[in-house]
Amino acid sequence: MDANDVLRHDHRVVEQLFRDYQAAESDAQRRGVVEILVRELSKHAALEEVPFYPFAAQVLADGQVDRHLAGHRPIKGLLLELDRCRAGDNAQDELMQRLASAVARHVQDDENELMPQLCAQADEQALRELGQEIDQGKQRAPTRPHPHAPDKPPALTLAAPVAAIYDRLRDRMQGRPRT
Ligand SMILES: [Fe+2]
Ligand SMILES: [Fe+2]
Repeated sequence: MDANDVLRHDHRVVEQLFRDYQAAESDAQRRGVVEILVRELSKHAALEEVPFYPFAAQVLADGQVDRHLAGHRPIKGLLLELDRCRAGDNAQDELMQRLASAVARHVQDDENELMPQLCAQADEQALRELGQEIDQGKQRAPTRPHPHAPDKPPALTLAAPVAAIYDRLRDRMQGRPRT
């Protein structure tokens, strides 16, 4: 799998989680889905921010990657609000709806714009190696949203590992899913 395949797969998982939320039959089930979604999307966004977008920035025209990165900010803001909800929270449904449309735009941007251009312009072997790095990075990526943290290297490269350790500690203490 190259980097595009790995990230596209993440997108499908997340879309399925939105459907699972709709299908859930209790507050506890819905909350369970939200917690998995927070985790999966936080990891996905973090791994796009490093190493995927910096790689893309080397290959593509100036400013293009910055626009994608800007699309992550509202998503992380919504994830943070969802992270703070409790089971049965009234705000949760509306936050999930807003998140679903923000994510749909993000998926279109990534899949219809960035990825085809990368396929055409980046070295195939480099894209495969990047895919491997992203896949392995999932073990160490932050699992919660950090909307106020830097989202570009070099600051991000320093902040992310510390955030990830802290997130995983909170995951353990709060009994969150740990996939
Ligand atoms: Fe993205
Ligand atoms: Fe993405």
